[in-house]
Amino acid sequence: LGSIEVDVSALEPGMSLIVKWRGKPVFIRNRTDKEVEEAKAVALADLKDPVARNANGDAAAEATDLARSAGEGKENWLVMIGVCTHLGCVPLGQAGDFGGWFCPCHGSHYDTAGRIRKGPAPQNLPVPTFAFVSDTVIKIG
Ligand code: FES
Repeated sequence: LGSIEVDVSALEPGMSLIVKWRGKPVFIRNRTDKEVEEAKAVALADLKDPVARNANGDAAAEATDLARSAGEGKENWLVMIGVCTHLGCVPLGQAGDFGGWFCPCHGSHYDTAGRIRKGPAPQNLPVPTFAFVSDTVIKIG
């Protein structure tokens, strides 16, 4: 169990990687500026789940784009457990009504910050414990 280190040096903006950690897929995405801007433009009042669900932050933190991302200076990076919070299917990337992820099992739409926006899933995709250990390597767990 424990942690894994992932080299993300090949991920240009707009590219993603799926790695397996503790038996689950983890989505790592280097978001485009447009994706970040779209997520930032969403009013918190419009979110179905207003909580950040980021294991690296305060458990009660609001689901702002910054709170969902890898943080100040690394806001383009999004790391999330790729398991739909409805019944556990793996959502598809860059799909759905909000340009983020779409779960085809029962139609849950997540935005470009991985926040649930439409459909039966109750919560945002969770952000696991992770950190950049260098400019190009992310340690998960
Ligand atoms: Fe994703 Fe049901 S498992 S919408």
